[in-house]
Amino acid sequence: MEQIFIAGPWITEHEIKIVEKAMRDWYEQPYFYCEEFQRVFAEYHDRKYALMTPNCTTSIHLLLTGLGIKPGDEVIVPECTWIATAAPITYLGATPVFCDIDPESWCLDPASVRDSITENTKAIIVVDLYGNMPRMDELLSISQEYGIPLIEDAAEALGSKYRGIRAGKFGIGSVFSFHRTKTLTTGEGGMLLLDDDGVYERCFVWRDHGRRPQARWPLVLQLRSNL
Ligand SMILES: Cc1ncc(COP(=O)(O)O)c(C=O)c1O
Repeated sequence: MEQIFIAGPWITEHEIKIVEKAMRDWYEQPYFYCEEFQRVFAEYHDRKYALMTPNCTTSIHLLLTGLGIKPGDEVIVPECTWIATAAPITYLGATPVFCDIDPESWCLDPASVRDSITENTKAIIVVDLYGNMPRMDELLSISQEYGIPLIEDAAEALGSKYRGIRAGKFGIGSVFSFHRTKTLTTGEGGMLLLDDDGVYERCFVWRDHGRRPQARWPLVLQLRSNL
């Protein structure tokens, strides 16, 4: 019986050449392709900063950490999503609060979000499920009204738009997945997009084990001069 595979990436000679070049340039241009991917990805989404991570789950964990989510806090998530939207909330000892989804878009229902807000609500994670876009205007105004940061889980929505704005541009930060099942894949991989300088600095330091954004290149040069 013929096996039908799930859709895979379109791999041309160009991608093969780039991978070969990345390997040949390993020492001459350390980090080049990651840095370039971050730059282009941020620019494409009209964001100031992009941070690559091992996967999207890590991006969510990183952003929640950067926002200071802690035990006792509540984070609103849609009741229909991939488990990775909610799991990182529990890594920090906080509580996911599951809200209803809209029957049209299958994304977070603004009325349900409003009903679920308590004094412990510290973030709202909106998911662009299956590339559908939620009623972002209403969700953003709830976020503003209560001063609760909105996070956009755009793992499944690369290329989607809401009122002409690309998925990934909404809220304090957004996350993407490059898992093999996604629109653009690196096998495994994730991205966190941000605009806020302070949140970026904090997330960078967490991701890079205490190193600051400026510290990386001198360190690389130092290592190379020791080779
Ligand atoms: C909505 C959503 N959030 C998060 C993730 C987690 O992505 P990753 O597998 O890159 O950690 C996925 C992946 O399937 C997803 O669909």
